[in-house]
Amino acid sequence: MAAASAGRGIRRPRHPQAGVSAGRGIRRPGYPQAGVSAGRGIRRPGYPPAGVSAGRGIRRPGYPPAGAYPVDDLVQAGPPGDLLPGLALPVPLMLVLELLGVPQQDSPQLCAWTDTAFSMTRHSQEEIKAARGHLEEYVAGMIGERRERPGDDLLGALVAERDEGGRLTEKELIGFAFLLLTAGYLSTVNAISSGILTLLLHSAELDRLRARPELVPTAVEELPRYNPSAISGALPRVALEDVDLGGVTVRAGEAVVPAIGSANHDASVFHAPERVDVAREANSHLAFGYGVHRCLGAQMARMELQVAVATLLRRLPTIRLAVPEHELRWKDHPVSRGLLSLPVTW
Ligand code: HEM
Repeated sequence: MAAASAGRGIRRPRHPQAGVSAGRGIRRPGYPQAGVSAGRGIRRPGYPPAGVSAGRGIRRPGYPPAGAYPVDDLVQAGPPGDLLPGLALPVPLMLVLELLGVPQQDSPQLCAWTDTAFSMTRHSQEEIKAARGHLEEYVAGMIGERRERPGDDLLGALVAERDEGGRLTEKELIGFAFLLLTAGYLSTVNAISSGILTLLLHSAELDRLRARPELVPTAVEELPRYNPSAISGALPRVALEDVDLGGVTVRAGEAVVPAIGSANHDASVFHAPERVDVAREANSHLAFGYGVHRCLGAQMARMELQVAVATLLRRLPTIRLAVPEHELRWKDHPVSRGLLSLPVTW
């Protein structure tokens, strides 16, 4: 992170400062374009739709309700079990489909395509391309349907913004819906499973949390700080003009890829950064990005993480890893890091 800590338009000590994501002259390339991010530029009468509060980000007040995690199947099937389908996946997936007004019964197919589309080496380039194509077609179909039957959901609002407000191009609309549908649950599933793994590997902190469940809100900041699921590639920025960054001149047109994992362990920002501290205060981590493209779903994801961790404490008080750490298998994606499974016992 040192390279991003100084230079014109880049300030310290509050972490991070302008320049990391939107420093003078630095912009994120590609999609979504400026002004596209809902809640930061898109407004229309009647928006947000019922249940979706657009304020600064995506939120569902009071949702998911505590205990909403369908962990019952996992508990009833008895140990050992896989915490990924048992706890991490169901609610983020259900919520994002509901947010977009997508039929829940399409979720197995959507998950299979997303899993392939966001892989690197587990599938061939042809398979990855085909999966992305299917997802894009699916999203285009959803948009077409919403045009025929306008819906009271986030997708309906985005379609109206394109058709009535004219502030989105068709490409931006499809890209944004694609991003919400895929990254909207994938990142959260990764964050929940990686976060729980961090707790299982730091049992003293898990014990501390069991003894003081009121620390869950600070814990769900600390877990993505310590082990972020979005690592780096999500955040490339391109300099629009020459910019000094930590004594290095980034020339106009050159790209900068911040390393979130490294920034989150910056000893000049975090006290004892290599320690997991579920009570850590003033935790200005970068797990949700920074600046104008900062994660729109951060509040929703925080809520989901809180419910997942609280459910774990309540329903699986004696949980532990069922395999040695080195046997855990990770997805091979450099942007959104996550476990393929999380075998546990209790
Ligand atoms: C723990 C879960 C999550 C993590 C770690 C995460 C992480 C991130 C990061 C690092 C970015 C910044 C990308 C950049 O600057 O280039 C981002 C952007 C974004 N996230 Fe998330 N995210 C999570 C959950 C969600 C959810 C639940 C949603 C929606 C339902 C969502 C929607 C978005 C969108 C739309 C953007 C693009 C914002 C923009 O470009 O203006 N994310 N996310």
